[in-house]
Amino acid sequence: MTDQPVFLLVDPAHFEVSYRINPWMEPGAWAADAERNSRAARASFEALSASLRSAGARLEIADGVPGLPDMVFPANAGVVLDGRVILARFAHPERANEEQRFYRIFADLAERGLFTEIASMPDGALHEGAGDAIWDANRGFFWAGHGQRSNLAGAHAVGRFFSREIVPLRLVSPSFYHLDTCFCPLSGGHVLYYPAAFDADGLATIHRHVAPELRIEATEEDAAALCVNAVNIGRTVTMAMAPDSLVRRLGDAGYDVRQVDLSPFILSGGAAYCMTLRLDRTVSTEAGAPQ
Ligand code: ARG
Repeated sequence: MTDQPVFLLVDPAHFEVSYRINPWMEPGAWAADAERNSRAARASFEALSASLRSAGARLEIADGVPGLPDMVFPANAGVVLDGRVILARFAHPERANEEQRFYRIFADLAERGLFTEIASMPDGALHEGAGDAIWDANRGFFWAGHGQRSNLAGAHAVGRFFSREIVPLRLVSPSFYHLDTCFCPLSGGHVLYYPAAFDADGLATIHRHVAPELRIEATEEDAAALCVNAVNIGRTVTMAMAPDSLVRRLGDAGYDVRQVDLSPFILSGGAAYCMTLRLDRTVSTEAGAPQ
């Protein structure tokens, strides 16, 4: 046994932008040079993988499926904790068939001992996985985004399945449609977040749980570069190409920012965090330990 962080990624061979279910998605821009974009996506994926490995991660890379291009965003596949997973229930028909495909991927991982239980969302619940249920290792609860893709019933289903507290945050901007596009808890107890994605209640909730010196507010420019959508391992934070001021501010807070050109995936509204799903997270992860 090691405590090496383990992430699921999905190979981008079948990635494309062929429909539009969020304002970032540009099927026209993709189709204008699909071959070049596919090559660029492959290069981006390899660069992200290299960055995560150099930060200490072990990667499980699953195959994608033709016609399900957004499988490259496995953060949306389900919510994982303590070797148990509750599968997503997607809001849009374009992604609905991913549920059964990710079930197979988790079932294969279960055969290898990585999972002990795979559950489904109850009827009426909509939930897009770790994109909308972000475990905060320092605080011991899930931050739960709802109001765009996931509904409150989905957020509560996650809380019940894991017997853990959820702290709901309503998302009010179609551009920041998953919590992970605008909210990122970090190993030192800091939270990087984009205030304009939340309503007044949500901001009050964040302020209640996160002390002022631990709040790192993303600017509009940071959010537009999808840099809040970051993968934190220990003190490293892997993200898309970032404004200098964000790199500096995170550096001042003690983090080492690793930037990767993820532009082909940003054409689909996704970046570093949503291209991964952390598989080894346990409740007992201690405060301040690698997230
Ligand atoms: N095109 C995908 C969608 O709209 C992007 C998903 C990004 N995932 C995330 N967790 N933010 O569903």
